[in-house]
Amino acid sequence: MNKVRKAVIPAAGLGTRMLPISAAVPKEMLPIVDLPAVYYLVEEAVQAGITDVLIITNRGKGAMEDFFDLSPEYEAALLRAGREADARRLREIAEMANVTFLRQREAKGLGHAVGRARSFVGEEPFVVMYGDDIIFSKKPVALQLIEAYEAYGLPVAAVKPVPPELLRKYCSLKVEPIAGSAVAFHCTDMIEKPKPGEEFSDLAILGRVLLEPRVFDILDTLPPGAGGEIQLTDAMAILARTGGMTALDFEGTRFDMGAKLGFLQANVIRALDHPEVGEKFRAFLREVARGL
Ligand code: UTP
Repeated sequence: MNKVRKAVIPAAGLGTRMLPISAAVPKEMLPIVDLPAVYYLVEEAVQAGITDVLIITNRGKGAMEDFFDLSPEYEAALLRAGREADARRLREIAEMANVTFLRQREAKGLGHAVGRARSFVGEEPFVVMYGDDIIFSKKPVALQLIEAYEAYGLPVAAVKPVPPELLRKYCSLKVEPIAGSAVAFHCTDMIEKPKPGEEFSDLAILGRVLLEPRVFDILDTLPPGAGGEIQLTDAMAILARTGGMTALDFEGTRFDMGAKLGFLQANVIRALDHPEVGEKFRAFLREVARGL
């Protein structure tokens, strides 16, 4: 079995739920305290042992490329000011992984975006990290998926039980238990955006999947699905029906950075632990909570 070294981050969606800000700032560059959301995805990938990351972008998302590039002018200014640690931090970000970018060119859906990654992926298994979904966990979720892949030898989807109104916006998986595991299931089918009555279970995919390159042949021939878009779920449904996938009820808390509430929640959680502002923020939050 090939070691998993590559991750693809689709980040070419229009981000209409985060308008007006997303008209000028890519939602992936919205901050969680002092780091953009996309940083947390690349950090998770690196912590899972991934070395190569492809970010799928579109027009107007150049700020992501600047963020992962070297910043010699900032480094020089920081060094002149005696701020070596800050200069080092910038360089660490630029060198944390081999981060490359590719344009989707037309926002034809998540499946279409992932399909652009064929030549980057080559013949290796790879993790897809949805650009909106930040997951804080003890063990990186990408690593949890890699371990499930190594254990069961099938493509893996990160899942959680979700309430019916979310199931209809996401997808629903048909699963069977796997003997000896309380968190891994064998998935034999799935449906994108199920209408009432079409659900298989309350398990939906949240933000991470691990796939093998054969998904590209499926994506290439897939007709548009829900919303007229090429849906990654439709391709994975074919994988699930022909050979199966593993559904992993992962450990971690997921925040939807493509929605205002998720963006605010992620910031509060990270701010509470932040080495520089955490203590003062906690006191501030206590004060605010007293008035609620
Ligand atoms: P979403 O549907 O959540 O993103 O796609 P969106 O289209 O940007 O959101 P709204 O509904 O308009 O607010 C899930 C992930 O797939 C990526 C998005 O960037 C997001 O990370 N995506 C979606 C693409 O890369 N390309 C697409 O054509 C569609």
